[in-house]
Order: sequence, then structure tokens, then C-alpha cells
Amino acid sequence: MKNVAGKTAFVTGGASGMGLAMVRSFAAAGMKVAVADIEAEPLRAVVDEFDETNASVIGLHVDVSDLDSVTEGAAKTKEAFGNIHVLVNNAGIVTGGTFAEAEPNDWRWTMNVNLDGVYNGLNAFLPDMIAHNEGGHVVNTASLAGHIAVPRLGIYGASKFAVVGLSETLRVEMLEHGIGVSVLCPGVVNTNIFTANRNRPSSLSATREMNFERANTDSEAVPNDVMRNILEPDVVGDMVLHAVQNDQFYIFTHPDFAPMVQTRTKEIEDAFEYWANYCAELS
Ligand SMILES: NC(=O)c1ccc[n+]([C@@H]2O[C@H](COP(=O)([O-])OP(=O)(O)OC[C@H]3O[C@@H](n4cnc5c(N)ncnc54)[C@H](O)[C@@H]3O)[C@@H](O)[C@H]2O)c1
Repeated sequence: MKNVAGKTAFVTGGASGMGLAMVRSFAAAGMKVAVADIEAEPLRAVVDEFDETNASVIGLHVDVSDLDSVTEGAAKTKEAFGNIHVLVNNAGIVTGGTFAEAEPNDWRWTMNVNLDGVYNGLNAFLPDMIAHNEGGHVVNTASLAGHIAVPRLGIYGASKFAVVGLSETLRVEMLEHGIGVSVLCPGVVNTNIFTANRNRPSSLSATREMNFERANTDSEAVPNDVMRNILEPDVVGDMVLHAVQNDQFYIFTHPDFAPMVQTRTKEIEDAFEYWANYCAELS
């Protein structure tokens, strides 16, 4: 979608961090933007920020884990701006702890937001984006943790590996509709993700204190390497805009982590060879 000016974007988790950065980059490029978020106060602040400008930005209270809420957000956006061209499924949370320590509610909350949230966005928006036939783009926020194993972030990683996987399929399915797809895979970015518990519903609380902060101070949460290069979100906002305009599928914000992904890929290639040899010896 080279020409984004005048087009409409819907950004979940748009009141903070990378979502907010995308909102700013999109608005600066002349797009109309619906900011969807569960947190009322930051949402108001974003709308206030753009009140003073010529940008067309609305704030919508949306819980991405609730399909009805996302569907309502889609209807309100269409009412305000007409056809929607860019869908960004970005809202996300993090829980920490090993699989042995984690509680069922850690799993449920993480999957409800990080994975169901993406599916709910696709369900609520795709049929109309296909029907209006004006082209479009979907951006799903995954993580570097959707490509490599990060101890104590296993549940989070499972949700993000799933987002990478569904995005790869979505890209193929959307080709015939002229809708591009990107999957954003950041390393560590300076956002409010480390206080994600602020949005945890009481119905999905954990009985013990097991969150990212604790995992992080244990210093085993993520390899030191991953914490080495902490990026500012505004850079990511511009990278996402560039990916939409230039139809780039994978968005890797931290190029220095490529070797970690390559190590995994190499192990998979070696495993194919190992089992090919094993089978050859049997025959
Ligand atoms: N910050 C990082 O280091 C990092 C790295 C890799 C991936 N990510 C991913 O980036 C995305 C954005 O996170 P961020 O780092 O900007 O964090 P953030 O906490 O600053 O922003 C996340 C936003 O999502 C919103 N949100 C949470 N639950 C929601 C729900 N149920 N419905 C609607 N909105 C909800 C929050 O209110 C917040 O505004 C997430 O998917 C996260 O997993 C972050």
C-alpha cells in the first residue's frame, strides 16, 4: 500500500508503547486512525494529543479478548471514517515463569489477549476489508520470542509463535485479495509491557506472584543478549509504516539477533538430515 494518505487504520493497544508509536507514524503519513485500547486514561490522552492537530484520530474502548467488543470497534471505525484499510493487531501482555510454575490463568490470560486478540481482529475486519476491494494491509505484533525459545517466557512465546504461524498462512490467503500482511517481531522495546499486569482481569488472577518483573530480576527471564539493545518505540512505529508501504512481511527490529534465529533454523535443517540418514540406513 504505497499510498496510505487518506486511508484508515485500526490499531489495537494503540494507547501505549509500540501501538501509540504506530498511531503517531500513521497519522503523520496522513492516515485516519482508530486507536483501540482497554485502558481508558491513556486512551483519552492519545485523543487529546491529536485534538490539537489536523489529524483524524478517534479513541475506542476495546477489549481484544472479547470478539463482540472488537466487532463493535470495527463498526464504530467504519461509521467514523468509512472503509478500513490497515488493521494492526498489536495489543499484548506478558506473563513470566517456567511452565512448571505457571498457573492455568497465566496461560488463559496470555492466550486470550495475545492470540485470541489477533484472531478476533481478523474475524471482525477481514470480511469487510476483502469486500470493499480497495486493498489493505494487516500487521500482527508477535515478538522475537515467536522465533526463539526464551526460558521463563514460555507461555508468552507460545502465543507469539502462534501469531507468527497464523501470519504466515494469512499472507498466502490474502494474496488474491490484494491485502498485504506483516508480522512485527521486536526484541526488547522501551514500553509499558513490563507492567502488563495493570490490565489483568481479576477473573484471571494468579494465586502467586509470578510476573515478568519477578522473572526479570531472576536474570534468567531472557538471555542477557536480548536485554542488550533496548529500542525506543517511535523507531518501531516508522518501521511498521515502512512495512505497510513496501509490503514487507517480517519486521525484525533488532538485526543483531539474527544469529539466534539462524541457530534454530540450522538445528531444524540438521534434524531433517539426521532423520533422512536414519531412514536411508533402514531401507
Ligand atoms: N516491549 C517489548 O519489548 C516487546 C517485545 C516484543 C513484542 N512486544 C509486543 O508488542 C505489543 C505491544 O506491546 P508494548 O510493548 O507496546 O506494551 P504496552 O504495554 O506499552 O502496550 C500494550 C497496549 O495493549 C493494551 N492492552 C492490553 N490488554 C488489552 C486488551 N485486552 N484489549 C485491548 N488493549 C489491551 C494496553 O492497555 C497497552 O496500551 C504486544 O503485543 C507485545 O507482546 C513487546
